[in-house]
Amino acid sequence: MDISTTYMGLKLKSPIVVGSSGLTEHSTNSIAYAKAGAGAIVLKSLFEEQILHDVDEQRLNNMYGTFSDQEYYALYFSKKHNITKYLDLIRQNKEAVDIPVIASINCVSAEEWISYARVIEQAGADALEINMFLLPAETDKTGEEKERVYFDIIEKVSQVISIPFALKISYYFSGLANFISRVAQTKASALVLFNRFYSPEVDIEKERIVPGDILSSAGLNTMTIRWIGILYDRVKTEFAASGGVSDGETVVRNLLVGAQVTQVVSAIYKHGPEIIESMLSTLKEWMQRHHYETIDQFRGKVSQKNIRNPILFERTQFMRYFSDAGY
Ligand SMILES: Cc1cc2nc3c(=O)[nH]c(=O)nc-3n(C[C@H](O)[C@H](O)[C@H](O)COP(=O)(O)O)c2cc1C
Repeated sequence: MDISTTYMGLKLKSPIVVGSSGLTEHSTNSIAYAKAGAGAIVLKSLFEEQILHDVDEQRLNNMYGTFSDQEYYALYFSKKHNITKYLDLIRQNKEAVDIPVIASINCVSAEEWISYARVIEQAGADALEINMFLLPAETDKTGEEKERVYFDIIEKVSQVISIPFALKISYYFSGLANFISRVAQTKASALVLFNRFYSPEVDIEKERIVPGDILSSAGLNTMTIRWIGILYDRVKTEFAASGGVSDGETVVRNLLVGAQVTQVVSAIYKHGPEIIESMLSTLKEWMQRHHYETIDQFRGKVSQKNIRNPILFERTQFMRYFSDAGY
């Protein structure tokens, strides 16, 4: 049985990708993920702010010619080498494992950090994931204005790198399907659905806002299932499923709606790298029971395009659920 897949033109030995997080901050961890059967890893994101701090240092250095100022010295050391450290992380991972290493940049603008995408490519990254977090919280900005930034970034990044790149996005779009179909017409090779952010939680005793749970629960995956299922084979791109991939059955579900790969983070935080092995054995056992030899034989089989009752993907009201489930 063959559980290999392709993603952004890369050949992966399995459809499980370790997602960007603290899990992929050290190359020693990556060895365990590769051993457990991961198909690729996405490194912890380098944040746009980290890159721009380095750029600012260079600017200031040019202006003053020295780092002698006390305050600036402190800044210099605290922010120093962010990029260099990241490039080392890429190189160390490339040396440590023989699975694709995907670098990640977290960005909010199409600023000068983009030129650094090239050094990431030169350090040996097999691909780049661009994690974009633009919460459309401004009351005076239209969806179109917000979306323009995404296309600016795609355009600029595609001018400086030749490795494939994916866009990791949230679901906060006024016209998500239309946005994704326009991204699919650009040089971006894939979309990661979806990014997960800290969510505000209300502490009723202290009566204040606190950060919500860092690790996700399995329920999060329903959002991913819906959107990959709706868009698979209707837009010309690949999808990486991210969010709530907690067991082997969920891996199967995401492949069935059309995911090219599944990204896993919280489940590895909770159960260690061994969960990858267990997810893969569930996948193999399921493929055997359903007589599949390759993932391509069933990928997208229950996507909206391929099922007899496509409305099920778009039904959002409870009416049917109430009647079907006897509620
Ligand atoms: C502790 C932690 C750190 C994370 N750091 C990043 C990051 O640097 N860049 C990024 O794109 N996503 C980051 N994520 C989000 C994950 O890549 C992933 O999208 C999210 O956790 C949903 O997947 P899961 O349900 O498998 O955890 C982080 C998640 C966690 C829990």
